Amino acid sequence: MKPTVSLVTVSLLFAPISFPGPGAETLTGSSLERSWRNDQKAYGRKGAVVSAHPLASRVGLAILKRGGNAVDAAVATFLTLAVVHPQAGNLGGGGFVVLRMADGRKLALDFREMAPLKAHPKMYQDGKGEVIPGKSLRTAQAVGVPGSPAGIYHLWKKFGKIKKWSQLVYPAHAFAEKGFEVDDFLARSIRAKRKTLGLWPATREIFFRKGEPLRKGDFLIQKDLAATLKRFADGGPKGFYGGRTAELFEAEMKRTKGMITQKDLASYVVKERKVLEGSYRGYPILSMPPPSSGGIALLQMLHILETWSLRDLGPGSAQELHYKIEAMRRAYADRARWLGDPDFFKVPIKGLLAKDYATGLAEGISPTQASKGVEAGLPAGAPPEESRETTHFSVIDAEGNAVSCTTTLNSTFGNGQVVAGAGFLLNNEMDDFSSKPGVPNQFGLVGAKANEIRAGKRPLSSMTPTIVLDKKGEHPYLILGSPGGGRIINTVLQVLIQVLDHDLPLDLAVRAPRIHQQWLPPATYWEPLAIPADARRKLEGMGHLFQKRPSVIGRCQAIRRDARGRILAVSDPRSGGGASAW
Ligand code: DON
Repeated sequence: MKPTVSLVTVSLLFAPISFPGPGAETLTGSSLERSWRNDQKAYGRKGAVVSAHPLASRVGLAILKRGGNAVDAAVATFLTLAVVHPQAGNLGGGGFVVLRMADGRKLALDFREMAPLKAHPKMYQDGKGEVIPGKSLRTAQAVGVPGSPAGIYHLWKKFGKIKKWSQLVYPAHAFAEKGFEVDDFLARSIRAKRKTLGLWPATREIFFRKGEPLRKGDFLIQKDLAATLKRFADGGPKGFYGGRTAELFEAEMKRTKGMITQKDLASYVVKERKVLEGSYRGYPILSMPPPSSGGIALLQMLHILETWSLRDLGPGSAQELHYKIEAMRRAYADRARWLGDPDFFKVPIKGLLAKDYATGLAEGISPTQASKGVEAGLPAGAPPEESRETTHFSVIDAEGNAVSCTTTLNSTFGNGQVVAGAGFLLNNEMDDFSSKPGVPNQFGLVGAKANEIRAGKRPLSSMTPTIVLDKKGEHPYLILGSPGGGRIINTVLQVLIQVLDHDLPLDLAVRAPRIHQQWLPPATYWEPLAIPADARRKLEGMGHLFQKRPSVIGRCQAIRRDARGRILAVSDPRSGGGASAW
């Protein structure tokens, strides 16, 4: 690919950007000890991009500076993440975008993976009907038909301002072709996942050197991925879902007993969906409808919590935590029962979001007792320690166009399989289906009929890209989302409450320690300092169970634009993202 204009010059990408912000980030210790690297917060007036990798955010900002709008910036950021943040950034995965254009147009774009045409409800069960451990996670049969390339192209075609598609692919292509330095986060992820990655020869070739996982400071060059990006740049979706890339994909599947064929690839469809709209304390909320459970569960929890003045109860007070936990329990119970791909199962969206339904649920919450028998009653074990990579980024431009995008390969590096010769990792999104009613997936989430496997169906997600508008409904006020599997929805919920109820500045709201309750198992997880000791004693007295979380709860990438048009972009100090603004 020979871009006629080099949109992103090296100097622009690597120019030092300094923003106020204290010292180095620590991964360990309590979240209140965590502090931002100085490129994790950015202030501006004309636009901002915040993502899980500083290079991707800088690419997005460079696109804004060169006249692109938020959609162009989002597309270039997305593609750059596919190269520099291979844990979750992807071509071989899927995701969702919630978009709100300054002229008022809104869209929820669904480019979630689709189950292959040969998929069926019992594909992960043995002859006795037992779920075969790992089959939906670590094999070629775990792969859903990727939606990302089709999704971002669709987005650009419909809303982008930059005329030439290849210009948006170019920065990602340059990083793949010329390489970039492996940072601490990527090095740790590769090390942590070395077993899974080591299973696949094409993957080893990329992420290992002399038999050892790449280390911090090593250079990662991805020539095959660059060639795939070039085909995508030149041919658009046909350059991915057809031609050489599709041939390589099918060959990889044949070699490893996967199900996806060229026919599956050619049949992939992006879905435009109606943004899920609700409100909380007068703020309009835009979020993702099914096949994500995120928007529905988020709005359901907010509706329940509107019953009480959380501000008066006080952040971190036993009573505030009690109501939050109980709201979470109820929304996640409904998630397990009612949510799935709306094209295959009639999701009772209206009923779940009706305010009187929320009022009824709130009335069922005792102010003094933890509830025990919240409905649905499916058995579930404790969630195993899961991977924690998905990635969210948020973008705003000078006109006020806003993009909230969450995308994933599901587990960190997906199933670990790279398509030989094409250089991109494959997802293991099929694990988000319910392999069998009541049997938990890798996030400990259970499901039922609504989320059973069917050919061409999309697995239920928790991804919650969200935009909050100002009270007049005119401008975007907050743009946010997070990775974290089942913890995503509660992460978004708590950041919103910190800002909208407790008036915390966005950076502190993102950093504040969080809790997580998902109905089953009954215990509530907490990050250090999320529950003060005296509140915990009180809550235990009310019947609540707690378990300290060994890892973080979500990693939020958020933007706030205040009434005077001042923008603050914040990358969660729980991980190594970056914020860029101007
Ligand atoms: O769509 C979902 O809900 C999951 N596949 C997301 C996976 C995830 O967030 C992994 N961890 N951060």
